[in-house]
Amino acid sequence: MHHLLETQQFDRDLLRSVFDLATKLENQRNDSLHGKILASLFYEPSTRTRFSFESAMMRLGGQVITAENANEVSSSVKGETLEDTIRVMNHYADAIVIRHPETGAAERAAAVSDVPVINAGDGAGQHPTQALLDLYTIERELGRLDDIHVVIVGDMRYYRAARSLSYLLGKFNNVTITGVTAPELRISDELREYLTEKNITYHETDVLPEAMKNADVIYQTRIQKERLSPEAYQRTKGQYVIDRSLADSMKDGGIIIHPLPRVGEITPEVDDSPHAVYFKQVGYGLTVRMALLSMLLGGKSVV
Ligand code: CP
Repeated sequence: MHHLLETQQFDRDLLRSVFDLATKLENQRNDSLHGKILASLFYEPSTRTRFSFESAMMRLGGQVITAENANEVSSSVKGETLEDTIRVMNHYADAIVIRHPETGAAERAAAVSDVPVINAGDGAGQHPTQALLDLYTIERELGRLDDIHVVIVGDMRYYRAARSLSYLLGKFNNVTITGVTAPELRISDELREYLTEKNITYHETDVLPEAMKNADVIYQTRIQKERLSPEAYQRTKGQYVIDRSLADSMKDGGIIIHPLPRVGEITPEVDDSPHAVYFKQVGYGLTVRMALLSMLLGGKSVV
């Protein structure tokens, strides 16, 4: 793996290597990436992805250069192409983590980059590192990745992390995915075909309470104002809210995860439910990103 662009790049062996390294790196700080520089180039807002990559880099002894509003402060404002920006950043950084509103932007960046490019979210395309940390969270909390029922709530069509996670779940055995979404936010034909090819059972329903009771994992998503027309946003937001009584209806050991940010789709009284894992998930994300940086930048042997 040179660039990290989409979750289809991963097989089970590679996932095992990432997750084992992430577990070893828990609560660790070392100098394995001393002298290395990560550039974070974010053309869309972020709290978790940018800060966790930067924190991960620093915990491994590396350094960070950052454009947190690249759409406003980089020379893209003057009309510089993404390709030229990446060619230039190659002189300054040993790896580039990029978030961009256009699907395919990370792939375009990788096409002209000698240093590793990490996709931190490209429009409604993919968010592979989020999906890796989601999968790691599931494994850590359930103790398995085969024989699971994952219910994805809200948006299967434009929510890039849910799309990336679905591609990863296709690597495992006896997995059922249920999508609980409005009709206009249903799974794409391409992803549906992939799941069929991988023998993943895929159901659709609009009844959340029934799906909650049968789930090992509830994967709640935000309805994204930034990807929908104002009319579609108004039609679909607030349709599937997890409150405490729904959380309490889950079976023992079932978990609720969410990439965050949330904007009302999980009410605050769920936070201290034994099923709520979404803040713990953030911590798992830090170590997964440490593992990925370590593997991409060559610090693996230090652990
Ligand atoms: N989950 C996620 O991508 O969060 P941010 O948008 O805050 O990075």
